[in-house]
Amino acid sequence: MTAITASPLPRTGLTSALRDRYLDILASVYLYNEHRGYTSLDRVIAAVRRCCPDEPEFLAEVVRHRADEAKHYHMFRRWFERQGRMPLAMDRRVGHIDRFILRTFGCTIDELDTDRIAATPAEFEQLCRVIMLTEQRGYRQVEVLLGNGWVRSDPVMRRIFEIVHRDEPGHFLPYQRWLERRGRATAGSSGRDGRPAGRRAARAGAARPAGCRTRRRGAGRWRPWAASAGYAAIERPAT
Ligand SMILES: [Fe+2]
Ligand SMILES: [Fe+2]
Repeated sequence: MTAITASPLPRTGLTSALRDRYLDILASVYLYNEHRGYTSLDRVIAAVRRCCPDEPEFLAEVVRHRADEAKHYHMFRRWFERQGRMPLAMDRRVGHIDRFILRTFGCTIDELDTDRIAATPAEFEQLCRVIMLTEQRGYRQVEVLLGNGWVRSDPVMRRIFEIVHRDEPGHFLPYQRWLERRGRATAGSSGRDGRPAGRRAARAGAARPAGCRTRRRGAGRWRPWAASAGYAAIERPAT
């Protein structure tokens, strides 16, 4: 997502409409990503429990991470609720973690076999690396957005991003430190050709990389975002 630069535009009907539309799209994209983040972390927590039974601090950090992402989701949701409006429909094409998982493992999050990943140290490391990179990217993105004039013009949206910015280091540092404690690379893992392993396999038409379940019938089909994000319960107010 490329932020629009902050130079203040004269307040006309058109710029107001553009600003409102921009904030609508921005909040909808974040809403999708926050929901994707905290629901996916349930499976990461299960994998950490299996993989690192003697590291309760790491598990506690991942549990905190999940709680933060759920909190962020509810902040963006509340932003819509206060206005009595529904978010725009989004799907995994705007999902940052979806894209990182696809590039690394060659499959969608839903197809990720977390049991197998938990049983394979190299794959668990790769999962930690993907989460770390996703969160680092998110941190940089929020810094850009906090300088955006349209974001700053909405006090609630601005406050939401300030909270997200404050929380974000706690989302990549646990995974980064976990990798560093093992002397593992914290940059994107790649093979000899410099591309992530899963992506190489996917592009070569090879068998699905380990760590991915076989595609189920209907998996990956476009679904209305609101239903998948548990948002359908919010109603428009009667007019
Ligand atoms: Fe978040
Ligand atoms: Fe985060």
